[in-house]
Amino acid sequence: MLKPLLECIASMLKRLRSGAARLATEGLRGFCEEHDPGLCLQEATRIEEWGYFEEPRPRFPGFFKKCRCLWTVELPPPILESGVDLFRAIRERRSRREYSSEPLDAKLLSTLLYHAAGVRGWELGWPLRHYPSAGGLQPVEVYVVAWRVESLREGLYHYEPDAQRLCAIREAPSRSLITHIALDQEHVGRAPALLILTAMYSRTASKYGARAYRYIHVDLGAVMQNVYLVAEALGLATVAVGAFYDREVCKLLGIDCRWEIPVLIMPIGKRVEGGFTG
Ligand SMILES: Cc1cc2nc3c(=O)[nH]c(=O)nc-3n(C[C@H](O)[C@H](O)[C@H](O)COP(=O)(O)O)c2cc1C
Repeated sequence: MLKPLLECIASMLKRLRSGAARLATEGLRGFCEEHDPGLCLQEATRIEEWGYFEEPRPRFPGFFKKCRCLWTVELPPPILESGVDLFRAIRERRSRREYSSEPLDAKLLSTLLYHAAGVRGWELGWPLRHYPSAGGLQPVEVYVVAWRVESLREGLYHYEPDAQRLCAIREAPSRSLITHIALDQEHVGRAPALLILTAMYSRTASKYGARAYRYIHVDLGAVMQNVYLVAEALGLATVAVGAFYDREVCKLLGIDCRWEIPVLIMPIGKRVEGGFTG
């Protein structure tokens, strides 16, 4: 007696909720036609009691993306103690856009990659990382353009954090192409190396649906700050570059610009004291 009644109430509630979701979608369409796309995105990714848990989710693509490698490079073990006080690194961090002409040391690159996005261990089958991540889903991928890195062949690499290894996915792009892609910001094309940070929207959306579009940027911002602070501690220069032609970056990396999206380019090089910041 009680069971059919409960089933009937549940089905009524479901119908009411899907009606509310349909009305909301129609309302959202109207809102998006009238407003800035950024506001539309904000509106579309709100958590509401109805709808949020019913949205379809993409399949979880796994924690570690694997690319087809032309060749691989085992990175040297990272430096684990900098001797630089954390508070001091935070106070002195700047965006630095001038790089020494010396090549970047592979050990420093390894240290930077490890502390930015490396795997420090495992807990209950989940990788532990150096950045907080919504749902522990770890959406950030790192690519490296190596132009002048000691004992590293020029190339465009994908960083494999579970193996502390670089996987070459293609020859290095020209400096002029990268400068063009970064809206003619010449300092980007002058660095010995670049990190390109992307976010796998699919990884986080597999749990959070569209809400993940907000979370992946927060996660990636934490990786960005790791890069800044470790660069500061190692005497390197870096700057977050968010201005670039998305489609051209995606073409370069061979990603779809939808389920995996480029977020930042971070040039890396040895610091020139007194170089331009700001
Ligand atoms: C999301 C984001 C995007 C940015 N994009 C660029 C950029 O395209 N080019 C650039 O030279 N600096 C860029 N910056 C660096 C800022 O200009 C810099 O952080 C700001 O001027 C403050 O200086 P500071 O980092 O030295 O404190 C960006 C920073 C962030 C966080």
